[in-house]
Amino acid sequence: MASAPVITIDGPSGSGKGAVCAVIAERLGFALLDSGALYRVLGIAVHKAGVDLANHQAVAKLAGEMAIEFGRNGPDSVQLNGEDVSLAIRTDLGSDMASRVGAIPAARQALHERQLAFRQPPGLVADGRDMGTVVFPDAQLKIYLTASVEARAQRRYKQLIGKGIDAILPDLLRDLKERDARDSQRPVSPLKPAEDAILLDTTDMTLENVIARVMEFVQQRLPQVASQ
Ligand code: DC
Repeated sequence: MASAPVITIDGPSGSGKGAVCAVIAERLGFALLDSGALYRVLGIAVHKAGVDLANHQAVAKLAGEMAIEFGRNGPDSVQLNGEDVSLAIRTDLGSDMASRVGAIPAARQALHERQLAFRQPPGLVADGRDMGTVVFPDAQLKIYLTASVEARAQRRYKQLIGKGIDAILPDLLRDLKERDARDSQRPVSPLKPAEDAILLDTTDMTLENVIARVMEFVQQRLPQVASQ
């Protein structure tokens, strides 16, 4: 049986991936994989368990063993071992820990299998850093979203304030630059576009514009899905 179709949308934090993926998945009736949320949950799990980040095997063990459940208390909700961590994973600590555990090869390996399991009929929209390069290299459509770091910091700021989380714009900008550097310079699965990805710079685009562009690409590459 042929594998279910996959659309990968990769890019740095604040490029708009999350919002775009949610809408595209909904329109197509596809499942959604927010791989960043997996790394964030792992980061929080490591923090809660007091595991030393230098102990790669212990971090990987947690990655394989932790129970994660999406969507129990609403579309954005995430449970870690039965505890609601939806807000915790979006804090600065959650972002920082996600980027740090993401740099550990054994942790990436442990999360790899879990990510493949999201590929189910009728299809999957996968949001992350290495969806098109490493996890789903055979995806039917690969998109890489970028935006200037200033625009991304602004978006993150609005997102956090909207969720009732305190945020300071210059701090967000500094943290984003740090995480960009760490995510793109790590030796395993660095943040970079797949060779066959379509690049879209969203700095001056509204969310609606980006969604419309992506839907055009879906129509071109997956006409049978887009017309349903
Ligand atoms: O997409 P996000 O901002 O929620 O991702 C948080 C961090 O998780 C990001 O800084 C790097 C890591 N990450 C990763 O290494 N690989 C992925 N596929 C997704 C996220």
